[in-house]
Amino acid sequence: MAFEINVNGQARQVDAGPDTPLLWALRDELKLTGTKFGCGQALCGACTVHVDGAPARSCQIPLADATKMKIVTIEGIAGKEAEAIRAAWRELDVPQCGYCQSGQIMSATALLQAKAKPTDADIDEAMDGNVCRCATYHRIRAGIHRAAEILGA
Ligand code: FES
Ligand code: FES
Repeated sequence: MAFEINVNGQARQVDAGPDTPLLWALRDELKLTGTKFGCGQALCGACTVHVDGAPARSCQIPLADATKMKIVTIEGIAGKEAEAIRAAWRELDVPQCGYCQSGQIMSATALLQAKAKPTDADIDEAMDGNVCRCATYHRIRAGIHRAAEILGA
């Protein structure tokens, strides 16, 4: 069955069942493999994309529902907040193995878009669902603060 979804500003055709998780449509059909599979149960955040500007777990969104959404993946994220996050991530060497980092960057960018100078509590709340098995949490927090500084400079 063919569905049209809007991904990174483009209309894309996906031939898959209506209940196929958006994550698999992105990865297997559209080859946007920056979005990762971790748990498939909304528990890890590895699959985070932006849906209509807010972070969402793509493993939980049926393809049929995704036809009504504007989806942005790590490959398409842009804007000053995303640039500041990327710069801070590089400067502070935030990733370790890197597996969780697409999801971390999507959540961190959405946080900065909503709040220019997040507190530690804001960061803890916004990043709560993004698990990092390498425990880079302290660098993620520092990276978000650094990105806020870059944006304010
Ligand atoms: S794979 Fe979606 S939250 Fe873990
Ligand atoms: S950097 Fe390895 S899981 Fe987060």
